[in-house]
Amino acid sequence: NTVLLAYSGGLDTSCILKWLQEKGYDVVTFTADIGQEEDFDAARVKAEKLGAKQVVIQDLRREFCEEFISVGIQANAIYEDRYLLGTALARPCIARAMVKVAKNEGIRYISHGATGKGNDQIRFELACYALYPEVKIISPWRLPEFYTRFKGRSDLFEYAKENGIPLPITLKAPWSIDANLMHVSYESGILEDPKNKAPDTLYEMTTDPEKAPDKPEKLEIEFRTGIPIRVKNLADGTEKSDALGLYLYLNELGGRHGIGRIDIVENRFLGMKSRGIYETPAGTILREAHLDIENLTMDRELRKIKHQLSVEFSQQVYRGLWYSPECTFIRQCIEKSQEGIDGTVYCKLYKGHVYITGRESPLSLYNQELVSMDVQGEYNPEDAAGFITITALRSKSPSTYLLQERRD
Ligand code: ARG
Ligand code: SIN
Repeated sequence: NTVLLAYSGGLDTSCILKWLQEKGYDVVTFTADIGQEEDFDAARVKAEKLGAKQVVIQDLRREFCEEFISVGIQANAIYEDRYLLGTALARPCIARAMVKVAKNEGIRYISHGATGKGNDQIRFELACYALYPEVKIISPWRLPEFYTRFKGRSDLFEYAKENGIPLPITLKAPWSIDANLMHVSYESGILEDPKNKAPDTLYEMTTDPEKAPDKPEKLEIEFRTGIPIRVKNLADGTEKSDALGLYLYLNELGGRHGIGRIDIVENRFLGMKSRGIYETPAGTILREAHLDIENLTMDRELRKIKHQLSVEFSQQVYRGLWYSPECTFIRQCIEKSQEGIDGTVYCKLYKGHVYITGRESPLSLYNQELVSMDVQGEYNPEDAAGFITITALRSKSPSTYLLQERRD
């Protein structure tokens, strides 16, 4: 009777660890380094002290970056026009790694500390079922015997004291945090009233744009097949060309310049609206740069279809459907759409904004002669008259005209 528990080292999952043991399970803990600031050695010591049968800690940063964040960038993925999906993209990555461990160790049960009201339970479990159909999920926050016993934080504290669970040294922030390489998100607690401004001290990844440097940061970002492959800081010549290093560097620069903060109300999959605050520095820079290089290099009609797929993809990711037939299909389409998306974008970061200042590409579809007001190019202006005449056939049809007149 062994359970693999997604373990953060925090109070909730430490109590779940003990509670599972109380229920008669052996517990193997799984902690992912997905780019969050955390003391993994301390988490290991704590899990061992609490009697974990085995402690697994894995660095998933590179795969998260190369296989999930990158796809988000190629897709220009965005939920409800604002959220860049930092939490949603991480879940299938963590679930996949856990399933691998569970299968290797012959573990049938997987447990997690997501609440019964959120998206994360859905994402986590749908990914587990898709990759490991025989798995049994234990979700304590959905079990009456658990949630009636632990009604609030004070019950967790009490239980922790009784069971020798080290209490957190730092007072827990009055909101829930989910942090990874891509973003830090904050919700619940004192943020639940959507009209209340969040305290300035909440933000962990970014400087307040008002306090950001007065001097802009000028960058060059090179893409190949829609994936950033090189970033160069034009002020000091710093260059990064591996996926993870580049992403970390842009987080650092973007953070310093206050890039990528949003405060929104969003629609959870389960139906309720929730208020969230997000900081996504590198993700925001790369989104702007990618949109720009795509418009230089992608055909107009392809772009239109790809955009529709992107809206669909974003919703699938938000809803936990990464490992589904429809999402697999769309990911292949998105990858295919990126085959000509090569080139370099020039931009500057300044007080919370990414300003694009130029771009170039060996596969550019931009034809300066064709668009120029100064030269004719391979173009005969008289043809435009024919184009307009034909296009206007519909507008000029008698009933269309009659209807339009009636409206005016
Ligand atoms: N609402 C975001 C999402 O569904 C973030 C969820 C986790 N965030 C948190 N602070 N617990 O992707
Ligand atoms: C949670 O409920 O565990 C976090 C929020 C969410 O999953 O939407």
